[in-house]
Amino acid sequence: MEPTASLLVIVGSTRPGRLGLPVAHWFVERAKQDGRFEVDLADLALIALPLLDESAHPRLQQYRHQHTKDWSARVAAADGVVLVTAEYNHGYPAPLKNALDYLHAEWMHKPVGFVSYGGVSAGTRAVQQLVQVVRALRMLPLVESVAMSNPDRFLQAGAFEPDEAARAAAAGLLDAVYDASVTATRRS
Ligand SMILES: Cc1cc2nc3c(=O)[nH]c(=O)nc-3n(C[C@H](O)[C@H](O)[C@H](O)COP(=O)(O)O)c2cc1C
Repeated sequence: MEPTASLLVIVGSTRPGRLGLPVAHWFVERAKQDGRFEVDLADLALIALPLLDESAHPRLQQYRHQHTKDWSARVAAADGVVLVTAEYNHGYPAPLKNALDYLHAEWMHKPVGFVSYGGVSAGTRAVQQLVQVVRALRMLPLVESVAMSNPDRFLQAGAFEPDEAARAAAAGLLDAVYDASVTATRRS
C-alpha cells in the first residue's frame, strides 16, 4: 500500500465572496479522491492571523502568541503544501505573504505547488513572485501547476467545475507533490 502524504492547501485570498474558496474546495476534493493524501485546508480568512506581531525572527521559534503556535503546528505537520492564489495588481494577496512570513523552519524543504487564477494571465505573475518568496524559505517549488484564466466561467450554482485542462493539470500537480513529499519525508 502506498504511504499517505499530508497535504496542506492554503487559500490565499480572504475577501468576502472570493473565488479562492470554491477553487480550493475543488482542489481539495481532487486531492481526497486521489487517495494518497491526508488533506488539511487552511483558510486564511478563518485563521485570521494578525499582521505579523511576533518580535523575534521566526527562525528562533520563540513564539509568544497562541495564533503563531497553532499556525506553526499546522504547517509543521504537512509533508507538502499547495498555495491557492489569486492575482492582485500583478502580485499575490497580502494575507498569503503574512502567513508565509510568520514561520521559517516549518516551511523548510517542503515541496510547494501552486493553483493560480486571474484574468488572461491566469495568476501566473502572482506565482512567479511567490516562487521567489518560497525559495527564500528553502521550500521546493514544483514546476507542475494549475493556472486558470477567468475562472468565474467555471462557477455553477456555487460549485466550481473547471474544464479538462484544469483537471489534468491538477492530476499532474498531485503526482508531483506526492512524489516530492514522500522523497522529502524519507530524507528526514
Ligand atoms: C484588488 C484586486 C486586484 C486585481 N488585480 C488583478 C491583476 O492584476 N491581474 C488579474 O489577472 N486579475 C486581477 N484581479 C481580478 C482577480 O483575479 C479576480 O477578481 C479573482 O477572482 C480574485 O481572487 P479572489 O476572488 O479569490 O479574491 C484583481 C482583483 C482585485 C480584487
